[in-house]
Amino acid sequence: MLTKLMMILCGAVIVSLLVETSAQAQMVAKKGDLATGKNVYNEICFACHGEKGDGKGPSWFNTKPSPQVFINSVYMSRLTDEYMFNVVKYGKLAVLNGQIPDKKLPALAMPAFGAVLEDQQIRDLIKFERAFSQGGPQSAEMREIFNDACAVCHGKSGRGDGERAHTKQPAPKYFVSEGQPSPMNLTDPQLMARFNDDFLFSLIKTGKIGGIMEDKFDTMQPFGQVLSDKEIWSVIRYIRETFVNPNKEKGYVAQKKK
Ligand code: HEC
Ligand code: HEC
Repeated sequence: MLTKLMMILCGAVIVSLLVETSAQAQMVAKKGDLATGKNVYNEICFACHGEKGDGKGPSWFNTKPSPQVFINSVYMSRLTDEYMFNVVKYGKLAVLNGQIPDKKLPALAMPAFGAVLEDQQIRDLIKFERAFSQGGPQSAEMREIFNDACAVCHGKSGRGDGERAHTKQPAPKYFVSEGQPSPMNLTDPQLMARFNDDFLFSLIKTGKIGGIMEDKFDTMQPFGQVLSDKEIWSVIRYIRETFVNPNKEKGYVAQKKK
């Protein structure tokens, strides 16, 4: 009886995710035009995000963190079209600071831990995090800190599925984030490769907003002054249909753990 109930519940989550995603695909298809999106992408976005959406355009090493990887469909399935629109139009900092007109959902930025963790603990925590994707030992002391301070959002196994990460409780496995990207999946080597240790140190010590404002790390800049709303919807449609969806069918997996 119980297992049957569980199966029904899991089924409902999957169905609602599918419905949500296809409703989104329809919305972006209506608002944007694929050919326009392709032009905008190849004029502006490719420089950082790469012609193939792999985050490795000609200037990818100039930004810290490196640009987002659009071919990672598992990660991208967590970003709604509306979130992407806001990030491109107003910039990510404005989204995180809640400075978006008619924004429906509050963002939950990565918090600062400088007040509760020593610098050395932060360095050890970075090693602990890297071990999720690279293997290697994870010390019991760091495990305890991670479970206390980080697991509530990142999940005990680092997959970004902790209970505070989503307004629906309990959070589904690969939930669609409503207001902003959900916490990183720390086990994914392709995504973790975007970050160097200096960036991670700043992120944990000063938080996502602090890292951008005080430590001057990069983030997605606004393009609302140079692109019309129609052009922004179009480029998002291009990203979805060209990079995200084809990889979704293949069930994109990052390089295997060694
Ligand atoms: C100068 C480099 C640069 C250019 C040009 C650029 N981006 Fe970005 N973009 C970034 C960086 C860096 C990030 C990662 C931001 C972060 O992790 O805070 C990013 C992240 C994103 C994200 C994901 C946001 C998230 O929270 O993960 C989207 C969507 C995006 N960019 C779309 C675009 C589009 C569309 C264009 C073209 C109109 C574009 N970008 C042009 C550097 C760039
Ligand atoms: C309140 C929820 C929350 C808590 C608690 C939290 N994080 Fe995060 N974390 C986030 C979110 C949200 C992001 C995604 C940041 C983004 O893309 O803007 C993130 C991103 C990250 C990233 C990847 C960097 C990136 O830009 O995506 C690392 C590494 C990380 N967190 C480590 C930690 C560690 C270590 C702790 C505990 C000391 C912790 N986090 C606690 C929400 C949280």
